[in-house]
Amino acid sequence: MKVFIKTYGCQMNERDSEAIGALFVKAGHTLCDSEYDADVLLFNTCSVRDAAERKAKGKIGFMRKLKLKKPDLIIGVTGCMAQRLGDQLLAELPHLDFVLGTGQIHKALETTEKIAADRRKIADTAVDPGEIDMLGEHGKNSWSAQIAITRGCNRFCSYCIVPYVRGREVSRSQESILSEARQLVDQGVKEILLLGQNVAAYGLNGDIRPPADGFSPFAELLEALNKIPGLARIRYTSPYVSYFNDRLISALASCKKVCHNIHLPLQSGSDRILQAMNRQYTAQSYREKVAQLRAAVPDLTFSTDVIVGFPGEEESDFALTRELMNEVGFEQAYIFKYSPRPGAKSALLADTVSEEEKLRRNNILLDDLEKRISARLAGLTGTVQEVLCEGVSARNEARWTGRTDTNFVVHFEPDDKVKTGDLRQVKITRSGSVSLFGELI
Ligand code: 5AD
Ligand code: SF4
Repeated sequence: MKVFIKTYGCQMNERDSEAIGALFVKAGHTLCDSEYDADVLLFNTCSVRDAAERKAKGKIGFMRKLKLKKPDLIIGVTGCMAQRLGDQLLAELPHLDFVLGTGQIHKALETTEKIAADRRKIADTAVDPGEIDMLGEHGKNSWSAQIAITRGCNRFCSYCIVPYVRGREVSRSQESILSEARQLVDQGVKEILLLGQNVAAYGLNGDIRPPADGFSPFAELLEALNKIPGLARIRYTSPYVSYFNDRLISALASCKKVCHNIHLPLQSGSDRILQAMNRQYTAQSYREKVAQLRAAVPDLTFSTDVIVGFPGEEESDFALTRELMNEVGFEQAYIFKYSPRPGAKSALLADTVSEEEKLRRNNILLDDLEKRISARLAGLTGTVQEVLCEGVSARNEARWTGRTDTNFVVHFEPDDKVKTGDLRQVKITRSGSVSLFGELI
């Protein structure tokens, strides 16, 4: 069968889709790039924001026409929206064949084969916490691969649907992660990206208190990965700020392969809003953690997530967020307009900020960010950066693209030796609005 997989949402979903695809390929099926060539359509969905759900539903709804033309077509929905809506989706979209929630997603292949045989519809959203090592398969890896180290989340930020659709946080064993990493490196992978809703809570057995100083299973994992010969870089996303204790910070400083870039979700710079969001830190403690991290790793760059227009967010709260963002000087930021998620606590609060006002706040932060990024990039002109070569640039075939360990994108003219996955020195000659340009040396 030819299988088309469409992914919505986060990197964890991308990783799951990759693993599901690999399962199909292992069983003798092929993956295809167009829904019109496919015998099986899989939609791996996201529920974090309403817009993500609406987009997926729109696309799946549109596939009804295709099913009318090709009645044997099998259409399945997996992931967070599948978990949240379950068999309600089968009722809403009668051309769907199956719905598999986040705990059953590893059954996509067997479910598809079952449906091909007996054409009976299936909806399964059972929670299966025993299956933490599921979906370990990888597709064709090049220089970079993702490894999920935890699943689920125990933090229950009041706006967030994730703990409800992905369930409680579970960590994989260190041995299982290391063996997956070694295998990938043997196949030529140079960079590993560790994934989890809160990676820094890795190995804490779901304890929601940040670990005491001196103890961090995540630091132990980074140290073990750092020793794998042939691996060049280790990245991770996302950690919750309160889990950076002295043990973890010193591991970041001592592990040479761990990249100097942290995605550190801030969400808001106002203590009142942070409290309403059930975030367990204040603007001041966030600020202090960033300072501690910078003291240990001076060239560290930061990116973040921020929500504008959370219920009750006043202009003064927003001003605090803006101020803190400018003070930290994030090199990248993802700004989200608050969207109430049914089931999450904040959905009970009145959505007080108008769409228009959310958009205005969103644009102000994006504007600040744009200016800051181009100034920051301009400041790197003339420096020499070590770049992991990723391949031909998407925009200009004459150029290659790479990334610094601080996560800046660099475009350069290739020489005849350059290979994907190489670490090369690049002299930065000029900067653009989102990336750098340079020459191999
Ligand atoms: N509304 C807007 N943004 C949200 N996020 C999570 N839930 C919501 C919501 N209800 C954002 C947070 C999180 C990122 C993945 O998505 O900023 O860090
Ligand atoms: Fe959602 Fe908060 Fe968990 Fe992140 S840490 S997944 S925002 S509940």
